[in-house]
Amino acid sequence: MLLGPPGSGKGTQGERLQEDFRLPYYATGDILRAAVKEGTDVGKQAKEFMDRGDLVPDEVIIGVIAERLQGEEASDGFILDGFPRTVPQAEALDTKMTELGRELTAAILIDVTEDEVVHRLGGRRTCEKNPSHIYHVEFDPPKEEGACDIDGGKLIVRDDDKPDVIKNRLAQYREKTEPLIDYYDDRGILNRVNGAQSPDEVEESIHGILATVRREEEEGM
Ligand code: AP5
Ligand code: MG
Repeated sequence: MLLGPPGSGKGTQGERLQEDFRLPYYATGDILRAAVKEGTDVGKQAKEFMDRGDLVPDEVIIGVIAERLQGEEASDGFILDGFPRTVPQAEALDTKMTELGRELTAAILIDVTEDEVVHRLGGRRTCEKNPSHIYHVEFDPPKEEGACDIDGGKLIVRDDDKPDVIKNRLAQYREKTEPLIDYYDDRGILNRVNGAQSPDEVEESIHGILATVRREEEEGM
């Protein structure tokens, strides 16, 4: 499970991890944006919250994730990005996992300063065809300006990457999501990664953490 403030690099790492581990990747922000685009019930309920940079109500998002976790696709494991984001969501995830007879392996906190986050979100570009293809005008530019390296999709600025909305997303993170750091620390599964490193270095750190967790599991610790 990837935890961290807006712009910390959850999506950038999630895209790499799903390739590295061949696991399904559930990014609630991407799922909700797709629902808004398709005009589904969930999308209609979520839109106004997302536009303001507020969190969508817990009951809307919990159902969306629960449905995916019990699917066949997720039976070998999965990567979560952007969920849980509140204590009630974390509790709902615990309940769901217990019901499925499973456990969360690791909560990985990507740690970055707010100044860095603002800089990152200001220059982010996302692929219109596949939102998990993420670029930055300065830190990770595409080969050809305005086009995705992978599928040629048009690169766009996300609706919620406006200064006022970014400010509110950060405030929401501090107020509602940061308590999850203690929540997972108390359960002994919190791992911190220095998110100020390059994307390759962050990826390597996450691999290191997961290798350690696996070794400990095998040794029955
Ligand atoms: P969501 O889409 O999850 O947005 P977020 O948490 O604000 O995070 P971001 O996607 O903005 O950042 P990221 O950490 O993925 O960073 P990225 O890799 O793109 O949620 C959007 C909205 O949906 C929420 O506001 C809420 O309304 C709703 N929502 C979603 N889940 C919800 C839930 N569970 N409950 C309630 N509401 C929910 O990287 C950012 C930029 O930095 C990119 O340009 C990238 O190229 C660059 N970058 C990445 N890594 C590095 C690096 N190491 N060095 C330099 N640049 C880097
Ligand atoms: Mg993201």
